[in-house]
Order: sequence, then C-alpha cells, then structure tokens
Amino acid sequence: ILARLRAQRAAAASGAGSGSEAAPSAPDGPATGTAQEIAKNIQAEAEAKGLRSRVASMNEFGFDNLNAKEAPLLVYVASSTGDGDAPDNAAKFYATLRRKSQPAGLLAGIGFTGFGLGDSNYTRFMYVPRAVRQRLLDLGAEQFYDCGEADEVDGIEIGLDKWLEGLWPALKKAAAPEGAAEAVAAAAAAPAAEGSGSGGAASADGEFQGVPPLPRCRVRLAWQEDAGAAAAVRAAEASAPSAADLAQRDPAGEYSAEAPFWAPVIGARYLTTELSGPDRQVLHLELDISGSSMRYSPGDSLGVLPENDPALVQALLERLGLDGDAVFDVAPAEEEGEEQDGGAGGGGAQAAAPAAHHHTERLLPHLRAPCSARRALARGVDLTGPPRKSLLRLLAEHCAAPEERAALLCLCSREGREAYASEVLAARPSLLHLLRRFPSCRPPLAALLDALPPLAARMYSLSCSPLECPGKAQFAFTVVRYRTEQHGEQQGVATSWLHRLCDPIARGATSAAAAGVRLPVFLRRGGGFGPPQSLEIPLLMIGPGTGVTPFRGFLQHRRAQLAAAGSGGAASRGTTWLFFGCRRQDQDYLYQEDLEGFVADGALDHLHVAFSRAQGHKVYVQHLMKRHAGELYKLIDRQGARVYVCGDGAAMAKDVHACLAGILQSEGGLTEAEATERLHEMTRQGRYVRDIWS
Ligand code: 2AM
Repeated sequence: ILARLRAQRAAAASGAGSGSEAAPSAPDGPATGTAQEIAKNIQAEAEAKGLRSRVASMNEFGFDNLNAKEAPLLVYVASSTGDGDAPDNAAKFYATLRRKSQPAGLLAGIGFTGFGLGDSNYTRFMYVPRAVRQRLLDLGAEQFYDCGEADEVDGIEIGLDKWLEGLWPALKKAAAPEGAAEAVAAAAAAPAAEGSGSGGAASADGEFQGVPPLPRCRVRLAWQEDAGAAAAVRAAEASAPSAADLAQRDPAGEYSAEAPFWAPVIGARYLTTELSGPDRQVLHLELDISGSSMRYSPGDSLGVLPENDPALVQALLERLGLDGDAVFDVAPAEEEGEEQDGGAGGGGAQAAAPAAHHHTERLLPHLRAPCSARRALARGVDLTGPPRKSLLRLLAEHCAAPEERAALLCLCSREGREAYASEVLAARPSLLHLLRRFPSCRPPLAALLDALPPLAARMYSLSCSPLECPGKAQFAFTVVRYRTEQHGEQQGVATSWLHRLCDPIARGATSAAAAGVRLPVFLRRGGGFGPPQSLEIPLLMIGPGTGVTPFRGFLQHRRAQLAAAGSGGAASRGTTWLFFGCRRQDQDYLYQEDLEGFVADGALDHLHVAFSRAQGHKVYVQHLMKRHAGELYKLIDRQGARVYVCGDGAAMAKDVHACLAGILQSEGGLTEAEATERLHEMTRQGRYVRDIWS
C-alpha cells in the first residue's frame, strides 16, 4: 500500500476537502488487509491534519506515477508474503521498482518513509519492506523519516504506535515547501490539525489518547426501489456461478480473485479416521480443472474464494435491522445530496445512475454491486477476523449509549492497549459478538461495508502433480474449529464453508456429480517452493500434519519423471527423505497409502513418521531427524540436498530450524553462529525453503 501525501495550504485544508484525491481501495485485494488498514488510517489522519493525500495499492498507484510531481511525499506500508515475495497487489510495482535498468536519480525529489510488516517465523523477514526502502534510496528518493517495522509475532501495535508518533512531526516538516516557514505554521494552526501524536480523535474524545481517526465513509448505498430490478439482481445471485462466470477463461490459465475459474468438485474424502474425533478432521478435495488452461507445478497453491456462514449472515442482518433481500448499488459519498442509507429498502436515495457505474465499481470492488444486502455480507467482507481499531472507532460513533461509546473508544485508545490485546486480539470477537455486546450500536451498512476488510481468498498447497493427475487439482486442509473462553465454539470461515459443501460427498451420502459443487479458484505460483528440475539433487522434506500436502505433489511428480527417464536415468538420481508427523497411525496418518506407495515405487527412499501421541512422551519429526543426524548432515553438506519445511510456523518450523542447526553443529563441528549463518546462506541460495503458516 502506498500513500501519496501532498502539502496543502492551510486555507484549503480547513475546508475544501480532498475532492477527487479520494482514492478507491485496492481493486486487486490485499492478502489480509493489514497494510491497507494502516495506510487508510494514515490517510485519514493526514487529512485531519490538513495534508492532502491519496491511498492506493502499489499496483493501482502504478510505478509510472512515482515521480516528484505526482508523489512529492510517499509513505508506504509494505508486507512480505511467503519467504519474501511481495503481495499480489504490489507485485507488478515491486518488480518494476527493482528493475536493474532503472536510471539512478529517477526518483530524485521524492521524500519517503515506510513501515514494514513481517513475521519473524519466516527466514526472509522484512525482505520486501527493506528492499523497497533500498531501491527508493538507490534511485535518488530521500528518506524524510526513519522507516519503521513491526513483527506479527510480537503484535504490530507496539512498533506501529511508536513509529506513528514520530511520523506526524516529520511529515509536517517534509510537507512544507523549502523555506516557507509560514506554511508549516499555517498547517499547524489549521483547525483539523489539533491534537498530538497519533491521537487524531483526542480532541473529540478528550479522555482517550491514541484513538484512531474516524474513518471517512467513501460510499453511500443507493437502494433499488424498483421491485422488478431488485428481483432480477437476486435471481442472478441465486444462479451463481452465472453463465458468464462459467464461461470465464484466462488464456494464461492463472485466473484471479476477481476473475476466478469455477472448478467442479469431483471428489472428496477424509484423510483422518473416525477415531480422530471431531476436533481433527482433514478433508481432501479433487477439482476438475480440465478446460481451464491452468498449468500448475508442484509447490504451487490454489486460491479459493470462500463465503461466510449463512447463519452468521442472517443473524447480522437481523441485528442490523436489514432486509437481506434488499438490493443496492454503491455510489460515492461525495456526490450524495441525500442522507446516508437509513436501512434496507427505506431511504429516499435514488438508485445510482448507470453512467456512474464504472466509478462506483472501483469504490468497493469486492462487493460487485448491485447486490443484495445478504450477498454483500456473505461474499464481500470479512466478518470474523479480529476487529481492527478503525472498526471499533466506527462502532463507537454509532452507539446511542454514552457508556458503550466510551468503552469502545477506550478499547481503541492507548490506555486500552491491554484490554484490546485480551478482549479483541485474544478473544477474537466477530462483528456480531461486538454488536451483541454493545446493543445500542447501530452502524449504517454503507460505513460497515467500507470499513470491513474484503473477504480474502485462502491459499492451499496443491497436493498432486499434473503428470499423474492431468486436468485435476487436489488439496487438503484441516477443518478449523477452536474454542475461545468468551465466545465458545468457533469455526474457520473457509474450511467450515468447504466442509459444509463437501462433507456429504466425503461421507458417501451423495456423489460428487449429484452434489454439483463448484469452487471459485485461481492459481498462485509457489515461487521457490518447488522441486528442482534435476532428479540428481537429493531432497529432504519435512512436513508434519497438513504440511505434507505439497510433498505428495513433489513425489507424484518425481515418480512420473523417473518412469519417463527409464532405468538409465535412475542411476544418478539423488536420494529423497520425508519426515512426516501425526498424532496416531490409526487417526491422522494423512496420505498413508500414497506415501508408502512412493517408497514401494522408488520415488521416496526414506520415510520417517513421528506418531506424537502413540506413547507416553511426544515424538516429533525433529526427534526422528536427530536420530539420523549423521546421514542428514552428509545429505545437506556433501550431497547438496534441498531442504523443504512445510506446516505450522508457530512451533514446528522453529524447532526444526533449531534441529537443523544442531545437526550442523554436532556433525559438522560448526559453532552455533556458523550453523545459523550456514542456514541463512542456504536460504539465500534457495536450498532451504519453507512454506509455513501460523
Ligand atoms: P501433538 O499435537 O501431539 O503435539 C501434526 O499436527 C503433528 O505435529 C502432530 O502430531 C503434533 O503433535 C505435531 N507437533 C506439534 N508441535 C510440534 C512441534 N513443535 N514440532 C514438531 N511437531 C509438532
């Protein structure tokens, strides 16, 4: 996300508003929306302080606009995905920025600062934010304020708040034209520029510090009053995927969240047994992608666009007093002459004129308006992620009861940091939970739809090879269920949705053909996480739990390649090792038949399975690795094996990393520092790659 900030005269700042500078949200949709959220907050506060600004995803902004005229001041908020890749909505911009042929001095005259989001579980922590900073400097831009960073592991709030505190004075100084001291003074004296630090709402709510500014709602909803037209929209939604959706073809076969391929589910089965109990169910799905031109490789992932639980959507509609069948279009708030939406079907606003449509589509692109209120909540927005502070701020604004408003403002203030950590981040209330806790809160739908993050696609590693499963895509996932103290039984959005759709097929209650389920999917390249082309390179694969899924793909691929190479090719091939872990052999030994089949067919030389709960003490993959320390050392050090780790990043990946470092020390005589450096070097060379999640 990249924000453009431009100094503006105090006179204009105090009243003229931002007009056409108001930017739409990123049309290509961020992975989680955290960076977007932060950038939007910065923009809201910048405007409140009399700075004219624009917020856009890097791709949307476009590298060509990165010059001193269009963007004299730049604040970027950047995150990395995977092991150091830019998110989709920044990838093109990032690639252009890093092009070696860019002339030095290209970005002279631009002042910038940036904030990096990362997760130190990943080996290439902060790779993208730091690379962006370095390239901006290389190309002549000047850093007007030190870039900041936050580690998801510690929570981003701490690093972010500190950086924001320093940002405003620095930005104000940088925004003043050279030598025009009075401009600084004027900006500081503008009515909206009151308050200190990042406490944009402090003036309105004096008792709380650090409350984020009230997000400006950029849209209004124009309710469709023509019953026939509304019925037509609902009918189109009911027949989703539409004929146009089904006809969607991407010649490159990649597709996207905006234009997915609707793949029929042609098979589903549980990889866990009944003995495993309802708290651990792993489901394997098979999709028909023939005719899609999708061409994937092992290590690639499938993006799946989920849907919220219909019961949750219904409960929300009721709580908000909305008719789920009411249809609306989205119109820009700036053009409104009438009042904001007062409720579904009511209100005097006219339906948006078709001429404005191209514009309105960009405002909330994830909603695909015109749509029904039910559809917008079901497919458009994330209803269950931990609520952001800007959402709490918005809810506070719409509480009739002063004590509820105060409680919400406190939660998003500096004083309420601890309460936010326990009541929001740890307890993970959904929007509905919050609305129930604060019964006087009645936010308008437009503001909610604008403030909630888009419902993001979920990525699943493909567990098959196109050589063995042509025209098919397979993946597996744990059905996410968990309990929180305050809210009891909770479900993952996407996995519970997939489970609802496919459980009857997996149980054999219906055939896949009769069920007729289709999933909107697209392809995401695995980057470095794929097997080497050459069969001579040995592989060390470590993947407990569903971390094993990509390795099934690797090994299917290898088996097919070996068969194609014939006996001549087999002589010089590298050895392959797989460490898998699960609770018990009779419960969750995922893909057991396949894995043992790879051994029987010679694609896998060493299969080691750690059954963690089969005995009195825990046995994990790293314990088995340690037993083979000598062989693994030779494999890595002498034979140049590629090391792959996939699965849980919170504990497993760290423990396995420590185990690998331990093997380098005990078997290779390296010091701890040397072992760590060796692993880093292997990462840089693409010989140690991880695909982990928490
Ligand atoms: P547990 O649930 O019995 O603790 C897949 O989830 C497997 O990974 C399970 O057998 C789980 O064991 C195991 N596991 C849990 N924590 C781990 C860790 N830190 N390192 C390796 N494996 C772990």
